[in-house]
Amino acid sequence: MEIIPLGPGFAAELRGVTLADVAADDAAYKAVRAAFEEHSVLVFRDQGVTDEAQVAFSRRFGPLEVTPVATEGAGTNLVILTTIGKDGKVVPADDRLALRNKANQLWHADSTFKAIPALASVLSGRIMPAQGGETEYVSTRLAWERFSPATQRKIENLFAWHDYSHSRGKIAANIVGAAERAALPPQCWRMVWKNPANGRRALYIASHAYAIEGMENGAAQKLLAELIDAATAPGLSYEHSWRKGDVVMWDNRATLHRGRPWPAHEARVMVRTTISATDADGLQRVRPPSRQTAE
Ligand code: OGA
Ligand code: MN
Repeated sequence: MEIIPLGPGFAAELRGVTLADVAADDAAYKAVRAAFEEHSVLVFRDQGVTDEAQVAFSRRFGPLEVTPVATEGAGTNLVILTTIGKDGKVVPADDRLALRNKANQLWHADSTFKAIPALASVLSGRIMPAQGGETEYVSTRLAWERFSPATQRKIENLFAWHDYSHSRGKIAANIVGAAERAALPPQCWRMVWKNPANGRRALYIASHAYAIEGMENGAAQKLLAELIDAATAPGLSYEHSWRKGDVVMWDNRATLHRGRPWPAHEARVMVRTTISATDADGLQRVRPPSRQTAE
C-alpha cells in the first residue's frame, strides 16, 4: 500500500489497496485503519464500487448507521444523495432532494446531532456533474493545534449543542418535518474530541452547533463562528474533484467538510455509508452539568 499526501497536512490517497481487500483481509484493514487515524481523509481511486462492496468495507470500521425514514435509502445502511427525481429527471433547485445537497454545502461533520455520533463516513461518486460538485475538507485536528494554549484551555471544557433542524433551518424553513425533528432531539458534545489511537485532539463543532452550554447566546454564536472561521480559513482545505470510481472516507471526529455547488440542471448521485463511533473511538460519555432548552 502506498500513501500519497494530498492536502495541507492531512488527507492522502491510498494506492495498491481496494475496498474489497479491506473487506476480506485483516492486514489490509489494519493498514487502512492506521492511515485513517493518521491522515483523517482517505481517497481511493478507480474502485468501481457497488453498494454491497461499500457496505462490506464500511462494516470493518464499526457499526453502520441505518438511514432514517425521511432520507433516500431509508431502512438500509446507504444514504443516497441524488438530484434525480422519481421521473428520472433532474429535480428543480427548490426540490427537497436539491435542498438536502444545499445543506451539505455548509461546513459540517456528519451526525454530530445524533445520539451516537459518527466515527467516519464513506462516500462514493456514482454520477458526477461535468463541473463543480467537489467535496472540500479541513482538519479540525490541525485547527486545534493552531489555537493558542489559552484558547485551547478555554474551549476544552465547553460543550456545544447540536441540532439537525438548526443547520437545515439555515437553508429553508420547515425542511425538517415534525416526525424527523422529534426523532432527533438536540445533543450536547464536548467541543474537543480526543482520538484514543494517537492522543491528538480536534475541535468538534459544525453547522449543526447552535449553542454553548452555560454561555449567553450572542457570545456563543460569536465564538462558534470564530472557531469555524479559523478552522476553514483559505489555504487550509483539501478539495476533492470527483472522478467516476472514487471513494472518499473521512474522520468526522477530526475534519469538517462541505459540498461545492454545480449547475442545477446537471445530475449528481453519491452514495454514503456512515460508521457510528464507539467507546474505542473516544466516544464522549461525559454530559454537561445541566441541560438547556433549545433557543
Ligand atoms: C455527505 C456530504 C457532500 C457532497 O455525504 O455527508 O456532506 O459533496 N456530502 O456530497
Ligand atoms: Mn456530510
